[in-house]
Amino acid sequence: MRAYDIIRKKRDGKILNAEEINYLIQGFTRGEVPDYQMAAWAMAVCCRGMDPVETVNLTRSMVASGETIDLSAIPGIKVDKHSTGGVGDTTTLVLAPLIAAAGGRMAKMSGRGLGHTGGTLDKFEAIPGFQVTLTRDEFTETVQRVGAAVVGQSGNLVPADKQLYALRDVTATVESIPLIASSVMSKKIAAGADAIVLDVKAGQGAFVKDVDQAFALAHILVEIGKQMGRETVALVTSMHQPLGKAIGNALEVMEAVETLRGAGPADLRELCLALGALLLVLSKVVQTEAEGRSRLEQLLGSGAGLTKLQEMVKAQKGNPQALEDWSLLPQAQKVVMVRSPLSGYVQEIKAEEMGFASTLLGAGRETKDSVVDLAVGIVLNKKVGDPVEAGEPLAFLHVNHPGRLEIVQQKVQSAFQLAREPVPVPPLIYGIVGIN
Ligand code: URA
Ligand code: CA
Repeated sequence: MRAYDIIRKKRDGKILNAEEINYLIQGFTRGEVPDYQMAAWAMAVCCRGMDPVETVNLTRSMVASGETIDLSAIPGIKVDKHSTGGVGDTTTLVLAPLIAAAGGRMAKMSGRGLGHTGGTLDKFEAIPGFQVTLTRDEFTETVQRVGAAVVGQSGNLVPADKQLYALRDVTATVESIPLIASSVMSKKIAAGADAIVLDVKAGQGAFVKDVDQAFALAHILVEIGKQMGRETVALVTSMHQPLGKAIGNALEVMEAVETLRGAGPADLRELCLALGALLLVLSKVVQTEAEGRSRLEQLLGSGAGLTKLQEMVKAQKGNPQALEDWSLLPQAQKVVMVRSPLSGYVQEIKAEEMGFASTLLGAGRETKDSVVDLAVGIVLNKKVGDPVEAGEPLAFLHVNHPGRLEIVQQKVQSAFQLAREPVPVPPLIYGIVGIN
């Protein structure tokens, strides 16, 4: 077999068999297939696509490129939740403790922020002392005892994806449904959960902007899960504005705590209830989504979710007091208002622009090695549908280094698209894929 022939076959729009895909993926992981051939192949896939069988075979081969995690020592169904990448997405900080408090088991491997999207690990690390590196035994023990743990990727999970993603990132081949689907699912499957709930984002702030395309992605993600023996359900949700109001690490910890107290922004709460209800159904803690929802509402009302987050924080060596006393969280030196130039109604808040603005403040990474400032970020004062008067604050910037302040102010102001007339609020959840 030759990489050349496989590239040519895909270039000509033909279907690759499992052996061909495996030859390429394993050869690439071992360093035998060079980057330039792999990049050419990724571009061929981008242009020609892959059918579901090819996409499942690609995922299988990627999982086989490295280690996999065995969670079978933990009794019961282990669930995982994953978003395809959003801005201000604070759901894991709310859901992990809620699911654990409801009696489920959430063994979560999370990532760091890169580009305009934030990362759950950075958010947890805003809690002083919180450790995202646990040994395998500590991880298993914590999930068993507390019900949830959140850690960074350890070991050599899906090295094929690490290498391939780095190439895709610089060759304009990220936006391919089969490549995104195999990238996401290979990592979820290698991480060992029995059941997976996916939040497929659609909109300006997402990898997949178009709602129909997001549904296509959701369908193939669910199909891969099914073919590989993991129960998988996907929600297609809106990224036509950042989720909740806070964007930035410590700011999102506060927002998660507010939500666990039964308050918090309406959209964040609603998405947590929808994803959480599915997680509880897949965990077999409840029979129906409606039952799951009411269980979660109880836990939000009673504060049991917050108590569980404190327990999780303690178990991972963080200071649980920081969840009650904000002065123990990283604080920015200055808060700066961004005012509206016009009166009108908020039509859209470009999430990608907001993500970049928050990265410019230091809340995200411009490169893999950037150091994140956990204190800084943006708090929205207006959401889509809200009326706004000229001169009213649209958002508050939490700032440590005023160097780029002017650019950030401009970016945030222009991310708000205003209309003269009232605008209908678009749906938060477009639909669900994979539940009977
Ligand atoms: N997230 C991933 O993990 N992989 C992709 O390809 C895109 C989003
Ligand atoms: Ca948020």
